[in-house]
Amino acid sequence: MKERVAIICGGRSSEHEISCISAGGVLAAIDRSKYEPILIGITRTGQWVLIPENHQMTIRDGVLPTVPETAPAVVVDVAGLSSGGSALSIDIVFPLLHGPYGEDGSIQGLLEMADIAYVGSGVLASAVAMDKSFAKPIFAAHGIATAHGIVVKASDWKTNATAITAEIESLGFPLFIKPARGGSSRGTTKVKSTDQITAAIEEAHQFDPKAIVEIAIVGSEIECAVLEIDGQPQASMVGKIHIDSKFEFYDFEAKYLDGATDIELPAPIDKKVADAIGAAAVKAFKALGCSGLARVDFFLTQTNQIVINELNTMPGFTSTSVFPKMWGASGITYTEVITHLLKSALKRTNGVLGN
Ligand SMILES: Nc1ncnc2c1ncn2[C@@H]1O[C@H](COP(=O)(O)OP(=O)(O)O)[C@@H](O)[C@H]1O
Ligand SMILES: [Mg+2]
Repeated sequence: MKERVAIICGGRSSEHEISCISAGGVLAAIDRSKYEPILIGITRTGQWVLIPENHQMTIRDGVLPTVPETAPAVVVDVAGLSSGGSALSIDIVFPLLHGPYGEDGSIQGLLEMADIAYVGSGVLASAVAMDKSFAKPIFAAHGIATAHGIVVKASDWKTNATAITAEIESLGFPLFIKPARGGSSRGTTKVKSTDQITAAIEEAHQFDPKAIVEIAIVGSEIECAVLEIDGQPQASMVGKIHIDSKFEFYDFEAKYLDGATDIELPAPIDKKVADAIGAAAVKAFKALGCSGLARVDFFLTQTNQIVINELNTMPGFTSTSVFPKMWGASGITYTEVITHLLKSALKRTNGVLGN
């Protein structure tokens, strides 16, 4: 019997459309000899709906796909998922959601309560990875270098901006100021002088009441994909991100404008350094107690110092996203990656008593 897989996409975060494109990709590539997929969407207002099979899930004529506001409602409760009064009999959920309410442990907790197997990290790992102010000290405790910095909460900033500004200045310029639980570089600013601090903090606080300030690491951005295969996290070939020189850093436009960035696979670096980055990626995955998959992003300095930037528990997952590309270059197809993830989900290593 084929397993029934509910691919869940959309959601309340700013990455709604990217999530829909990822879901369209998985729907097209999933091995239908083993799995029977259905598509469930979360609308921008948070309603769960059954997406009709013929609904547009790819970019067409420059229009990005979204979850339709009018579609049959899906009910999720401790008994599982149902629609129109009948159970959907789901074996595995693939929560292809990015950002808050998706990648942060919220939906994972809901699925735990409903006792449904799901792809990816569990509640704790998802929540910790989402919040850089919690993930960084854990990486550091495991011997993986992070960028030095401080946390600035909106409540403290309101009452203590002068003293905090002095503390930020003492870190030295340039700096990066960004939301602790951000994504897609939204709310991230490169700060080169004292007079830019206030605007950058306020910008980050637009996205998250918790901002982080970090010294800028000078170097290239190197990414590594980790995939759990037969219970063991494996590192892919590592890739180097190339950003069009008109961008100062890997910002939102660089990420999503056509042709603005590219990943070079394998990264043009010493094999020993590449292996060390792969090992650090697996170490970071284990340090946070991740399951299934993660994309681990690093900086590599000119002196080959490896600094972790962040770990994403549900990275972009369209057929042309970095995660599937890195596995493709490592000899594992998009369809095979999806099969590994669905198999791992049934092992429940992400569960309450899992990793
Ligand atoms: N400490 C830093 N040093 C150098 N560049 C940084 C630093 N922090 C962020 N950046 C730049 O900003 C981008 C987005 O920051 P990141 O922390 O990855 O946030 P997001 O979760 O939004 O991807 C990075 O890819 C990098 O280009
Ligand atoms: Mg990033």
